[in-house]
Amino acid sequence: MTAMKVLALHGLAALSGVSAARSQQRPLTHQSPLADTVTDTTEKKAIDSEALQGTIKVENLLARAKQLYEIAKLGEDEYNHPTRVIGSKGHTGTLEYIHSALANMSDYYTLEKQPFTAVSGQIYEARLVLGDEVASSAWPMGLTPPTKDRQPVSGNLVLVENEGCEADDYDGDKLKGNIAFILRGSCPFGTKSELAGKNGAVAAVVYNYEDDSVSGTLGTPLKDHVATFGLSGEEAAPVLKKLKSGKTVDTIAYIDSVVEKIVTDNIIAQTIEGDKENCVMLGGHSDSVAEGPGINDDGSGSLTLLEIATQLTKFKVNNCVRFAWWAGEEEGLLGSDYYVYNLPKEENKKIRLFMDYDMLASPNFAYQVYDARNDVNPVGSQELRDLYVDWYTAHGLNYTFIPFDGRSDYDGFIRNGIPGGGIATGAEGIKTKEEEKMFGGKKGDWYDPCYHQLCDDVSNLNLTAWEVNAKLVAHSVATYAKSFEGFPQRVEVDAKVTEGSKTYARSVKYHGGKLFI
Ligand SMILES: *[C@@H]1O[C@H](CO)[C@@H](O)[C@H](O)[C@H]1NC(C)=O
Ligand SMILES: *[C@@H]1O[C@H](CO)[C@@H](O)[C@H](O)[C@H]1NC(C)=O
Ligand SMILES: *[C@@H]1O[C@H](CO)[C@@H](O)[C@H](O)[C@H]1NC(C)=O
Ligand SMILES: [Zn+2]
Repeated sequence: MTAMKVLALHGLAALSGVSAARSQQRPLTHQSPLADTVTDTTEKKAIDSEALQGTIKVENLLARAKQLYEIAKLGEDEYNHPTRVIGSKGHTGTLEYIHSALANMSDYYTLEKQPFTAVSGQIYEARLVLGDEVASSAWPMGLTPPTKDRQPVSGNLVLVENEGCEADDYDGDKLKGNIAFILRGSCPFGTKSELAGKNGAVAAVVYNYEDDSVSGTLGTPLKDHVATFGLSGEEAAPVLKKLKSGKTVDTIAYIDSVVEKIVTDNIIAQTIEGDKENCVMLGGHSDSVAEGPGINDDGSGSLTLLEIATQLTKFKVNNCVRFAWWAGEEEGLLGSDYYVYNLPKEENKKIRLFMDYDMLASPNFAYQVYDARNDVNPVGSQELRDLYVDWYTAHGLNYTFIPFDGRSDYDGFIRNGIPGGGIATGAEGIKTKEEEKMFGGKKGDWYDPCYHQLCDDVSNLNLTAWEVNAKLVAHSVATYAKSFEGFPQRVEVDAKVTEGSKTYARSVKYHGGKLFI
């Protein structure tokens, strides 16, 4: 059944505007492949922003969104609903769709699949009992291992000193067979869980310094990680008081989870023409969360890239353009991290900037520009930010700045010295009264009320916002494909910086959609 569906989808693709656009480019008379190629290149127009923007049609974008939803349905067998989460048939179908579309443009792009091992966590059940109270704010961390034998474990709650970032903060004698109680802050949750595990704890609870609960992730699994919860500061306060006055708090911790390894692919396409020493790079993510089909997150971004990659073939570029479709973004930016980390130093230098396009059509949208600044981010990030600002301004549209705080795939780039930025339309944030005046929509609601849910389907797109933003993406590609004049030169970087490293000084708490510090 699955194979039939895949075939049917390809049939559909053949009828879409994409293939039609391509065939228009071809001469009507039959020619040999060589002659065909020669004719193609000589006929191409020099890259021009207005012309590339003019190729953006909302019907093409919408047709692609409908196709993507059909692909997400391939995930139904295993997940009972459409999804494109890594490891699902919905995701492999997505990769095949992107790859085959680009393979059809092999006279214009070199194409690469970059396989890597991603980790994916499933949490089936979890419970934390502190004294005789079930902790209602306790939330298992993403990628947490289960408690032993996926059964409840019990012990005393043991308060760890300071923020639990140093080995000295842990008393192994007291912790052995018990449950570590650790203050959030200063270092990643993964480090705290690892140190608790090394000291014999059977589970760990990281409590917040703020009243709120903590929805975090442990990041890359390590062998010493133990089952770990986040807990709200509000619920932690009375428990902390008891512990500090010397009382014991009997604790039961239970997490039934699995962490799986999944081999998946980034897809990278680069123009054959254009200066290879000076590339403009852009990316979106090909995967969704398990809960839904991810048509806005990030169908909207990844399909915009595919449409622009298709339209770009009509033009001759001066600088190389490199497109990326990342996998494992939802598990913590795994694909983009892997890509940047494995770039040799000489290759890092060739990327003049990276532009992130994650969620461009939120139904209750705001035009958001990442507030990337040269004083805290690699130099050039601010020039890119201003390109978006200038475009919105020139089109009489309002925009807002949003924190450039590590929530999407640009993070690995800016940590490794590559200027970055991007635009978005909003996820689970709440639209303000002022923003309602600026963009329309509804104050008090999420920008994307279907964020990370089953209802992130074709109806969860604002087509006006999508078309506007797709044109701006086209403008960003065309601008740098034409020239880097006036754009800061790259600075070489030595150190490779990995997740959670302290060497890149900044106040960022996110790595992907979840907190990690
Ligand atoms: C690629 O080209 C083949 C052969 O022309 C066609 O059947 C297929 O639909 C195309 N795929 C995409 C995604 O455009
Ligand atoms: C921009 O925002 C102002 C309110 O700050 C509003 O009056 C104006 O209509 C908005 N412009 C557009 C194009 O929506
Ligand atoms: C998109 O947003 C605009 C501005 O808020 C609104 O006028 C329009 O009705 C929305 N379109 C859809 C399809 O939701
Ligand atoms: Zn996303």
